Amino acid sequence: MAAKKDNEIDEEELKVDDVPLDEEEDTVVVEVPEDEPTLDDLPGVGPATAEKLREAGFDDMLAIAVMSPSALADAAELGEAVSAKIIAGAKKLANIGGFLSGNALLEKRSEVLKLTTCSVALDELFGGGFETQAICEVYGEFGSGKTQIGHQLAVNATMPISEGGLGGEVFYIDTEDTFRPERISQMARGNGLDPEMVLERIHVARAYNSAHQMLLVDEIKRMAKNIEVKMVIVDSLTSHFRAEFLGRGKLAERQQKLNKHLKELKQLADVSNALVLVTNQVHSKPDAMWGDPTKPIGGHIVGHASTFRLYLRKSKGGRRIGRLVDSPNLPEGEAVFMVTGEGIRD
Ligand code: GTP
Ligand code: MG
Repeated sequence: MAAKKDNEIDEEELKVDDVPLDEEEDTVVVEVPEDEPTLDDLPGVGPATAEKLREAGFDDMLAIAVMSPSALADAAELGEAVSAKIIAGAKKLANIGGFLSGNALLEKRSEVLKLTTCSVALDELFGGGFETQAICEVYGEFGSGKTQIGHQLAVNATMPISEGGLGGEVFYIDTEDTFRPERISQMARGNGLDPEMVLERIHVARAYNSAHQMLLVDEIKRMAKNIEVKMVIVDSLTSHFRAEFLGRGKLAERQQKLNKHLKELKQLADVSNALVLVTNQVHSKPDAMWGDPTKPIGGHIVGHASTFRLYLRKSKGGRRIGRLVDSPNLPEGEAVFMVTGEGIRD
């Protein structure tokens, strides 16, 4: 079936391509280094294929370059042979990055923004706030405050950078139907902000299953071209995956899908200089011989994909303890905070 599809597309492409390519050679002045190459610069991509790629959310060279032929074929409804050719072309045109000097990396890092949590202790734990260009996983048992942190950071991200915000739009993927605009209003008022203005900048979508959840990320990627996406929240990252892929036999498939989902989220974080916050439940491991008997869902896949992991526990007197579990540049440590009517506070 795949072979037949390839042939069809190939023929169509050849017809469409020959003309614009010739025209381009005559009229377009090459070597304009500031200009990013576009899809139409790819070999074998005429207007029809370019449109298919765009519709599937691939308008960035790097996004294409890192795909496998079969995955691109599936996503953009192309033949595999055509996909392979397009990917090869994208690899040549994309700014893959390769090796960067330490100084260049430092410069990219210098663009990182830090988002305040409204708790001094939590901000300090995170070296000044939650970082952009990163995925932060917040995990803990029910009622530990994951959704409350999501709401608070959504509010704060709409604040100007000079006030500890990210000065941009927030996209909230709600899988458990626990997003509450009323709670956003309360927290906005708690920060002296106009609730209506804050709500206007938080865009919420309910995800009905894991496939829908992944599609919503594609949608955000598309919108990120015209909108300053500064934060994406997935609350919860794992609940649909956990419910849909039950049992040992489905584990590999579940992990594969989660991995793909997380990679797309990380790409969004990098490209948009945005913060991605994902929440995760824990499952108890009664057989654990030592250490904490609770473990986050998703195991190594989620653990490796997250740049920061914050483990929340309930404590006495309504206090919450947040433990920074995994971070590339910060020491492990704990912070105590409260969930109040006005939001997260020390
Ligand atoms: P699951 O999604 O069930 O796994 O839990 P979660 O970790 O997302 O918990 P969530 O963030 O929803 O925390 C719920 C807790 O936050 C409640 O038990 C309250 O203690 C606290 N909380 C929620 N809303 C308010 C509020 O308006 N005022 C105050 N003071 N506390 C609140
Ligand atoms: Mg929750």
